[in-house]
Amino acid sequence: MLTPTMNIQPCSHDLLPILSIINAAAEAYRGVIPPDCWHDPYMSLAELEQEVAAGVAFWGLEEDGVLRGVMGIQPVRDVDLIRHAYVTPGLQRRGVGGALIKHLRQRSQRRMLVGTWAAAGWAIDFYQRHGFVLVPATETPELLRTYWAIPDRQIHTSVVLTHPGTSAG
Ligand SMILES: CC(C)(COP(=O)(O)OP(=O)(O)OC[C@H]1O[C@@H](n2cnc3c(N)ncnc32)[C@H](O)[C@@H]1OP(=O)(O)O)[C@@H](O)C(=O)NCCC(=O)NCCS
Repeated sequence: MLTPTMNIQPCSHDLLPILSIINAAAEAYRGVIPPDCWHDPYMSLAELEQEVAAGVAFWGLEEDGVLRGVMGIQPVRDVDLIRHAYVTPGLQRRGVGGALIKHLRQRSQRRMLVGTWAAAGWAIDFYQRHGFVLVPATETPELLRTYWAIPDRQIHTSVVLTHPGTSAG
């Protein structure tokens, strides 16, 4: 839940604070996701720039003016993807991610999809708490190929969750 000292806004064009949160929070994957999928750092600045160029709009939650968490939204064809959800380690599990996902849900009327590592049970749990439902494994590879641009190896080690949109059509 948002406290009076917190606010959510589009992230500025300075990608470094976003990158720093992503790479710090992605430490959670170390030793959890398949070793060949792990990179150190998890994301490079060039990769992040590419994601922004591909249409990922990052929103940030600031507390007392300090960025605490980021979450991206990317419209692709008929859906909105949630991309790159990360909260500063040490500040997780106190509602920052929840406030960001609620905010992005409110901004979208379309079906939303989110992909995450199959091994990241905590992230799956987080999305399920926010109304997302796991897509059957048989449908996952096709969805990942249709809406994401990710390597084949990641396709076989990921899950997709879906949230129905609120628009009529
Ligand atoms: C996933 C993440 C973005 C959620 O943000 P958050 O601010 O921690 O989430 P909230 O406080 O709103 O919600 C917490 C809930 O998420 C789940 N969760 C988040 N982190 C968890 C963890 N380390 N262990 C178990 N459950 C966790 C639980 O359901 C938790 O509820 P609980 O604390 O009552 O058990 C954040 O934990 C994070 O950055 N994790 C590491 C990176 C990651 O997995 N990113 C997801 C990319 S798809």
